Amino acid sequence: MTLQHDAIVILDFGSQYSQLIARRVRERGVYSELYAWDSPAEKVLGSQPKGFILSGGPASVYEPGAPGLPGYVLDSGRPVLGICYGMQLLAHHLGGRVSGSVRREYGPAEVELVGPLNPLLTLGSEAGLPAPDALQVWMSHGDRIDRLPPGFVPLARSLNSPYAAMGNTETGRYGVQFHPEVVHTPRGAEILGNFATAVCGCRADWTAGNLIEELVESIRTQVGRGQLVLGLSGGVDSSVVAALAHRAIGDRLTCVFVDTGLMRLGEPQQVVETFDRRMGMHLVAVNAVEEMLDALVGVVDPEDKRRRIGERFIRIFEREARKIGNPRELHLAQGTIYPDIIESAARDRPDAHRIKSHHNVGGLPKDIEFAAIVEPLRLLFKDEVRRLGEALGLPDEIVWRQPFPGPGLAVRLLGEVTWQGLERLREADAILLDELGRQGGLRTTAQAFAVLLPVRSVGVMGDARTYEQPVVIRAVETDDFMTADWARLDWDLLARVSQRIVNEVDGINRVVYDITSKPPATIEWE
Ligand code: XMP
Repeated sequence: MTLQHDAIVILDFGSQYSQLIARRVRERGVYSELYAWDSPAEKVLGSQPKGFILSGGPASVYEPGAPGLPGYVLDSGRPVLGICYGMQLLAHHLGGRVSGSVRREYGPAEVELVGPLNPLLTLGSEAGLPAPDALQVWMSHGDRIDRLPPGFVPLARSLNSPYAAMGNTETGRYGVQFHPEVVHTPRGAEILGNFATAVCGCRADWTAGNLIEELVESIRTQVGRGQLVLGLSGGVDSSVVAALAHRAIGDRLTCVFVDTGLMRLGEPQQVVETFDRRMGMHLVAVNAVEEMLDALVGVVDPEDKRRRIGERFIRIFEREARKIGNPRELHLAQGTIYPDIIESAARDRPDAHRIKSHHNVGGLPKDIEFAAIVEPLRLLFKDEVRRLGEALGLPDEIVWRQPFPGPGLAVRLLGEVTWQGLERLREADAILLDELGRQGGLRTTAQAFAVLLPVRSVGVMGDARTYEQPVVIRAVETDDFMTADWARLDWDLLARVSQRIVNEVDGINRVVYDITSKPPATIEWE
């Protein structure tokens, strides 16, 4: 699938913020793609970038083995914006000098805007915002530039960085020592937008409305007169694929929803209600609860659970797909999104460690042949998928549903998966989500859920001794799910959740709150 948009390419030099840069540029309405700095030139240039952004990164330009600037960037003659390490790399290659800073500069800083009028830092053209003389920014660097490359002038300075921003307006090459992509640089998105539109001349046509038309059209072209099958999980990604594909090819789309018994309270009913009854899609709902539980009898090892659930899901899905038609003539739709593509490329790198084998419900059954795979969301970030979902008229509960792992509650029920354990966990989890939802916390917390532990502890209820299971409340804040901080949930909220769980759910007599960030913990317990 290729989309017809002016594009900015972001080269990733290992910054934890690289995906954010791409998202910010897109939020300004300009399409952007992210590539590892050492991706093959043909691949990167295949996006026909109108400009490049070089991300930050942990290295130092003089360090042996430090990531280098690919030759095609300067050879292309296109504008370049270097951020932090990217700026240092640009300066280094163009004849400037980078040195270790006397002290690291980390955290909020103020930079003073200096130098000539330039399109990058001409801010305030937006309604009501005055043009500033200084900017609040976020710094995070050790090295800094102490001599500019020929042709460059300083555009901003801070106490610790004489060249907090630099530019050459003739060539359209710029550098900023601070991080415009993070929220702590309040005018940062505007700066990135300026680079994309005013410096590179990109059209700002990356909007939900345009996208829906394009994606619907591309599904039509891909599927032709054929049939399409989709594993619908009820999560936002597969739901948006369903809505797009339904718009594109109507009843030639069959959604297969497998009730594994591992979903949250009320979810299976909600999927059927939304897609079958309300949206009138052709939905096959399969009750596979017993089959899935049979596959999990006696299994306690997390990876073993994941593998069995993944395999069983594929078999069930295959069986249902066969009923629709010969798989070789069927197209398979998947809800793969851009971070999956970026992360799976990163995982394929030789230095990557496997922490868990994630699998998606509806994940690609490797051994079944389909005529083709249709992945309409493969270039989109989650927030873009949500915007599409809203524009397509999906209900809020689906558009704003928190991410849920493919293996479902099985990885939140430690030890052996039993029906009784699942029911207990479902009830506790529903109480947490209910209380959080009342406070609007379902949108502000990236993920919140309950985990049931396979141990018992002593309690006292109504003067009697209890010896029952504890439940863990886990709530995290994160932008990308690669790192996460535990959410500072309101204490009164936690008190209500605890009280309700212990009172309302049989078999639970203790509630604990998980205060571990990721790393060192992961978000899920298994
Ligand atoms: P971890 O536990 O690895 O989770 O920190 C990061 C994010 O991934 C989700 N997760 C999964 N998602 N299939 C999925 O589709 C999986 O097997 C899986 N395991 C974890 C987790 O909920 C969190 O959002």
